[in-house]
Amino acid sequence: MSGTDRDTGSDRTAPPGSIEAHGLTKSYGKPAVRVLDGIDLHVGPATVFALLGPNGAGKTTAVRILATLTEPDSGAARVAGYDIATERGKVRRAISLTGQFAAVDETQTGEENLRMMARLTGLTRAAARRRADELLVRFGLTDAARRLVRTYSGGMRRRLDLAAGLVGSPEPGVFFLDEPTTGLDPRSRQELWQVVRELADRGAAVLLTTQYLEEADRLADRIAVLDKGRIAAEGTPATLKSRVSGHRLDVVLTDGAAYLRLATRAVHHSPETLTLGLPTDGTAAHVRALLDEIDPTRTDVARFTVHSASLDDVFLALTAEVPAHV
Ligand SMILES: Nc1ncnc2c1ncn2[C@@H]1O[C@H](COP(=O)(O)OP(=O)(O)OP(=O)(O)O)[C@@H](O)[C@H]1O
Ligand SMILES: [Mg+2]
Repeated sequence: MSGTDRDTGSDRTAPPGSIEAHGLTKSYGKPAVRVLDGIDLHVGPATVFALLGPNGAGKTTAVRILATLTEPDSGAARVAGYDIATERGKVRRAISLTGQFAAVDETQTGEENLRMMARLTGLTRAAARRRADELLVRFGLTDAARRLVRTYSGGMRRRLDLAAGLVGSPEPGVFFLDEPTTGLDPRSRQELWQVVRELADRGAAVLLTTQYLEEADRLADRIAVLDKGRIAAEGTPATLKSRVSGHRLDVVLTDGAAYLRLATRAVHHSPETLTLGLPTDGTAAHVRALLDEIDPTRTDVARFTVHSASLDDVFLALTAEVPAHV
């Protein structure tokens, strides 16, 4: 663990691998639209934290604020123990930020990029070469080291972005990854997950944004669902799933009137197929009682299935609007 350099005279009040945010708000435009409406986040060391949300939920805005690229309208945050408003330089030196903002030069090779960045952080030529070599090995890029970055696959490019964020030493305690696996094929995605897991296992706090529920479920220790500028739910993947009763009863209704009547109590809506999903604990007793309750005349439900709740269900339950009509 790396939480010990508090007593070196720095003004840190939290461990290096941590993110603490309180009441962050941000509005854009005229008339002002509230993109973040009071966000609290707590991410400890050795943790992968996924900020999950649909397009436009405010994920990138939150990351940019925490990485000191955008100022919040109100609220406060400490990243790696430093205040994002008054200690920007320290925050920037203590974090790695990759995603849409990576500064990799596509007309150079991966090796050249890493060496150049290492030189920029003040390493000697020999030390820069050693650091670049280490990172190329660590991120599985040795074979591609001498190819132009322009020829890299999406997965290789993301790994190089991550390596670039590690060039400066000592290794950052906080990583921000904005949609690190968007557009990657399944294998590249898994490779990247492994790299991200390793960063956390070495003690870092990793905050990543994603639109993939599966990614949050597989990779994250904790998940926050961001919806309309607020944290709609936060917890481990298991606790979030338990919020939707563990199981879901999907009923296919016989007509639109029955669908509309029951739509408000459903956590899953599929108007095209007249299917609604209702929370259940999955026991025969509860499923039977639920079917009797929603369809006392035994005419409205044509078919049903029961399955385990997925993170999709949590997400839909928290973010979906109930459709007004079929
Ligand atoms: N600089 C800006 N000026 C005006 N509006 C902005 C600015 N940055 C973001 N927005 C708006 O804020 C909202 C949230 O944007 P943000 O990029 O944080 O969402 P996101 O969750 O990252 O979405 P995505 O999944 O598409 O990346 C959007 O409606 C966006 O148009
Ligand atoms: Mg974004």
